[in-house]
Amino acid sequence: MSVDEVDTATVDLAASTLHGSLVDPALESMNFLNEVASRYPSAVSFASGRPCEEFFDVSLIHQYIDTYCRYLTDELGYSEAQLNRALFQYGRTKGIVHELIARHLRMDEGISADPESIVVTVGFQEAMFAVVRALRADERDVLLAVSPAYVGMTGAARLADLPVCPVRSGEAGVDLDDLAAQVRRAREAGLRVRACYLMPDFANPSGISLTVDLRHRLLELAARERILLLEDNPYGLFHAGPHRPTLKALDTTRQVIYLGSFAKTGFPGARVGYAVADQRVAAADGSVSLRADYLSRIKSMLTVNTSAIAQAVVGGKLLTYGCSMIRANERETATYLSNLRQLLDGLARRFAAPAGSRAQVSWNAPNGGFFVVVTLPFPVDDELMEYSARRHGVLWTPMSHFYNGAGGLHQARLACSQLTGEQIETGLDRFAALVAERLGGLS
Ligand SMILES: Cc1ncc(COP(=O)(O)O)c(C=O)c1O
Repeated sequence: MSVDEVDTATVDLAASTLHGSLVDPALESMNFLNEVASRYPSAVSFASGRPCEEFFDVSLIHQYIDTYCRYLTDELGYSEAQLNRALFQYGRTKGIVHELIARHLRMDEGISADPESIVVTVGFQEAMFAVVRALRADERDVLLAVSPAYVGMTGAARLADLPVCPVRSGEAGVDLDDLAAQVRRAREAGLRVRACYLMPDFANPSGISLTVDLRHRLLELAARERILLLEDNPYGLFHAGPHRPTLKALDTTRQVIYLGSFAKTGFPGARVGYAVADQRVAAADGSVSLRADYLSRIKSMLTVNTSAIAQAVVGGKLLTYGCSMIRANERETATYLSNLRQLLDGLARRFAAPAGSRAQVSWNAPNGGFFVVVTLPFPVDDELMEYSARRHGVLWTPMSHFYNGAGGLHQARLACSQLTGEQIETGLDRFAALVAERLGGLS
């Protein structure tokens, strides 16, 4: 509807007069998936990448706040007035648990981050938005992103009017030849590549992790081409086997902005995340400050500061486990890995090809994280997902959501983080019934 066509008796304005992002599919995606899930509450949902709820316990919130308060008084020597101010008052824009986050990064990830380079944010989402807002100086700026990509990133870039150009993931997690080609192509078109976004560990949605060698080669390429890497890492700690170093741990040239979240290692209700942005930025007067300080300026106009209460809860959890989220999540990690094993075994039992024939259904096998991608011999779209929920009682996510509608047409993302073993079996039986029905239709 154009502005001229608005019937002013019944509506007040046309959506087309609002910012373009508001009618962008990237911003619709999460709402659509939640809306379908809410219409079919009895469906088993492989769609949600939420953390498991088994260990949620409200009394922990109180315990964590107490632990954080004791740390302020006993270790940092806060008076009662200072303690009250820390929790009740407006606070430091860059956050109050930055020292504890720096300890956690050193302990769990081998990252040595200056606490001053950390901005504590309202989840990954605010950190991502602040980063893209700062990078988008004018219309020549573009962001590269390994595709398929998390819709939270695509949406944040859209809000900041920063176009996103896809880089092929391939089976390795990033195709370096394509990355180099995209940089070249963008530059030839007169564009400025500001950064490349990716998830090196158990990516959402692909589940893929980069080998250590590929991480080194990516960093070399980024340094050669002088592009920043935006490393998103909410699932990296949920793994079996040896832990691979993050890009930030390997970064010796301040080429990486690390985007952290406690949504999965803490809990999403706290809404606490952060950015490590240690790049040194020169102002017009010659003074030098950290990129984190510029992100903090943006934050001061978005959320002023991250809730001190929420930070106290996360801080208390960190302190309880010696600042190790690996230790804090031992039970959760065991649950996620056992669910993943069950999902992969269950897929094999239901879909393995008879000896000598080619599989019609295939899937990848990550050794951690929340997600598995299944490739099917028929198109997989929102309509089929809705039908699957209605007719078969099972939900999953069409991969096309993560390609901005330009790929993944035969793929579904299955998440099993929030399910019980029994639900996984029921969900897979239902999914197999859907697949059998479709294959019957195709033969
Ligand atoms: C790829 C990715 N990044 C970050 C997050 C965490 O975001 P937030 O901290 O805003 O909840 C998620 C959560 O689903 C995610 O899948």
